[in-house]
Amino acid sequence: MPKYHESIMKNEVLHYLNIHMEGVIVDGTLGDGGHAEFILKNTGPKTTILGIDRDRSAIERATERLRPFKGRVTLVHGSMENLQELAERSGVTKISGLLFDFGVSSPQLDTPERGFSIQNDGPLDMRMDSSQTTTAANLLEKLKDEELASIIKNFGEERFAKKIVRAIRKEQEERPVTTTSQLSKIISGVVKSKKQSRIHPATKTFQALRIAVNNELEQIKTALKSAIHLLDNSARIVAISFHSLEDRIVKTFFREEEKGCVCPPKTPICICGKKQTLKILTRRPVCPSEEEVALNPRSVSAKLRVAERVYV
Ligand SMILES: C[S@@+](CC[C@H](N)C(=O)[O-])C[C@H]1O[C@@H](n2cnc3c(N)ncnc32)[C@H](O)[C@@H]1O
Repeated sequence: MPKYHESIMKNEVLHYLNIHMEGVIVDGTLGDGGHAEFILKNTGPKTTILGIDRDRSAIERATERLRPFKGRVTLVHGSMENLQELAERSGVTKISGLLFDFGVSSPQLDTPERGFSIQNDGPLDMRMDSSQTTTAANLLEKLKDEELASIIKNFGEERFAKKIVRAIRKEQEERPVTTTSQLSKIISGVVKSKKQSRIHPATKTFQALRIAVNNELEQIKTALKSAIHLLDNSARIVAISFHSLEDRIVKTFFREEEKGCVCPPKTPICICGKKQTLKILTRRPVCPSEEEVALNPRSVSAKLRVAERVYV
């Protein structure tokens, strides 16, 4: 197993961040610091990184990895939803670029005790920040049937959500559902994979629970909104998504922020006061090359979008 998470579209990230001589780049999903390391290696001494992650073990690994760049790196444990506060606390009021590489890292997925893995047995945990109280097992325990089905349907885009909830409830009549293998077995019992598909039938449910446990989609929305206040003129947001729910949030946000006045066409003067804050630089998402997907199959669903801050 590689020591660190394999960073996706590193060259594209560096290219689109369009880093000038100096400034602070925020990596809002630091992970193992692979993108951060690549940026630091390929920029001058006046480019610094503020790295944020809600997983303390990621901060520890990235601290070790980025040690050679001492003086150019500040790493903080926290959530991207508190982006502005975390930046200000680190003495940063304006930034020259912002990277988001959403989702889970390979160490999170590959460590059974973290509870993200369908393949390896572990506690049904899925917390990115282990100091948080609610785990995936807690959700299965405390949510009402409709709430659980709605999470599985909406966050997993799983059409068999109700069937899956019925199967979970049946098992819970016998014993609590507390492990990843128990849950994946329950789901395999009621949902079949498409012929020749290598995708496990529990994939969508695991994704849904992970999103719910970590409140991932709301955090992305809040982080994007805060970014507008932090980005300097011409500074860019580069966002890598791994599923359609994340990508839709980024796409919709960029489009909304690209719009200026939204007053009805016949209004003589603007009364809405809305101003354009972003210019979209990627009308279509940028995807990893075939070579990258062959080397790193986990990159297959990645989509990168970029927008530039404009002050009008
Ligand atoms: C795909 S990994 C990033 C990998 C990183 N770009 C690299 O090259 O090593 C995603 C990381 O984002 C973190 N993360 C997810 N949601 C977060 C949030 N709301 N706030 C801060 N970090 C978050 C996860 O803990 C994980 O470490």
